[in-house]
Amino acid sequence: MDLTVKINDRTFKNPVWVASGTFGYGEEFKDFIDLEKVGAIITKTITLNAREGNPPPRIVETPSGMLNSIGLENKGIEHFAKKYYPFLEKLDTRIIVSVAGRDKDEFEKCIEALEEFSPDAIEINLSCPNVVHRQTKHKLIAQDPETTGEIIAAVRKKTKSILIAKLTPNVTDISEIALAAEAGGANALSVVNTYLGMAVDAEEMKPILGNIVGGLSGPAIKPMALKVVYDVSKKVKIPVIGIGGIMTGRDVAEFMLCGAAAVQVGTANLADPAAHNRILSEFEEYLDRKGIKKATDLVGKLKKL
Ligand SMILES: Cc1cc2nc3c(=O)[nH]c(=O)nc-3n(C[C@H](O)[C@H](O)[C@H](O)COP(=O)(O)O)c2cc1C
Repeated sequence: MDLTVKINDRTFKNPVWVASGTFGYGEEFKDFIDLEKVGAIITKTITLNAREGNPPPRIVETPSGMLNSIGLENKGIEHFAKKYYPFLEKLDTRIIVSVAGRDKDEFEKCIEALEEFSPDAIEINLSCPNVVHRQTKHKLIAQDPETTGEIIAAVRKKTKSILIAKLTPNVTDISEIALAAEAGGANALSVVNTYLGMAVDAEEMKPILGNIVGGLSGPAIKPMALKVVYDVSKKVKIPVIGIGGIMTGRDVAEFMLCGAAAVQVGTANLADPAAHNRILSEFEEYLDRKGIKKATDLVGKLKKL
């Protein structure tokens, strides 16, 4: 069975990857799964300098998913390069470093700093719902097509690495943002980041998250994320990577049928640190049962009713 996926000139061993912020920097999961079975590890988003993140509480469980308001807590690129990258680069799998910045200048500096250890790809996080950006009147860069295009074009000039733009679903028409990222020079798109939401404690009459608002993830968002993948993959020519509530191998198949070239497993890793390897085996069983020899044959093959 051929599970490989190509994004530009890079081959990934399978289409089941792990999503930023739900898998630490990989090493934390080494005792639970075979990391080399992961198609690509996307690191927790890093920024040029350390950030403290939002006030606690930063995570709350909801009936079918979780709300988080971490706010990009991390110790900065230099710390990542020294502490985490040496472990990651030895793994026989693709490493995608996720980066974010407050404005174009910080994004450019992040990319310059990453050049020295050239990861397999860079995911540009334009969509963290838990931070305020300087550059745009909107809260998130990926809520504005112009700023999205500008930032992608600026980082495009700084690197030959594969650039993946990660977009937010918290917009009226994600297709126009997707087209702007493609026009700016993105090689692929990751959709979706979390959906904005709130949790309230009726007894205390208070919001539960320290940041009041957070991002919803997990099974609750899967139907909405499938629709985003379905819509966006029809609009752009570059590969679309599907994310949102993937818990099983069948979920992977559903995203690929809707047009995803690959997927990322997020919240499932937090519920079960062994989730990735199980989901991959289930996906292989699905392909086997359907007599599909090449995983990419599934992409966009949703039949008519
Ligand atoms: C606790 C937590 C932290 C996250 N941190 C990041 C992050 O640092 N960067 C990012 O691009 N996405 C981050 N995300 C979003 C996920 O990568 C993913 O897009 C989202 O959770 C939807 O997928 P899921 O439903 O499978 O979790 C985070 C999600 C969670 C739950």
